[in-house]
Amino acid sequence: MRTRNIVLAALIGFTAVSAQADVANAEKLVSIYSELAKHDNPEYAGPTAADGKFFFNRKIKLGNGKLMACASCHTSNPADEGKHIVTGKPIRPLSPVVNTKRFDDFEKVESKFTQHCKDIIGSDCTAAEKASYITYLLTEKTPSAKK
Ligand code: HEC
Repeated sequence: MRTRNIVLAALIGFTAVSAQADVANAEKLVSIYSELAKHDNPEYAGPTAADGKFFFNRKIKLGNGKLMACASCHTSNPADEGKHIVTGKPIRPLSPVVNTKRFDDFEKVESKFTQHCKDIIGSDCTAAEKASYITYLLTEKTPSAKK
């Protein structure tokens, strides 16, 4: 399965050399955030891809009345390249399976989460939300067919 994804990633031009290491890193982040979530709430039942998917696509009303979701810039398929809805700049895919640069640096991930969650939701996301978010991204392995 994984070999197939690496081949796929190589075909579409991403450097896939350390794909496994990055997937492992993302998985490690999931367990770190899960531990933090358990610390916040001893009843915490663990991350799910379904929660992460809901969170990713959930539209939130901003101060200016516009609806925005993580998917607004990152697209509804996190294995695809995104596009910043304000600047129009491309954003490399969020899925660590197709983009090996994702989730390789805890500090960076934390600062991006804080920044984007504040922009969209108005406060930082919880550890439980982050754990499910990355769990969901790990399930998104297949970029959409090129148009
Ligand atoms: C207005 C556009 C926009 C929206 C909406 C948005 N992002 Fe982002 N996101 C970006 C850009 C731009 C980057 C950084 C570009 C890059 O690293 O390629 C990024 C990168 C990230 C990263 C960095 C991952 C890594 O390790 O490289 C995380 C995590 C992230 N976003 C989470 C979120 C979450 C969670 C939401 C929804 C609450 C969200 N983003 C909504 C534009 C957006």
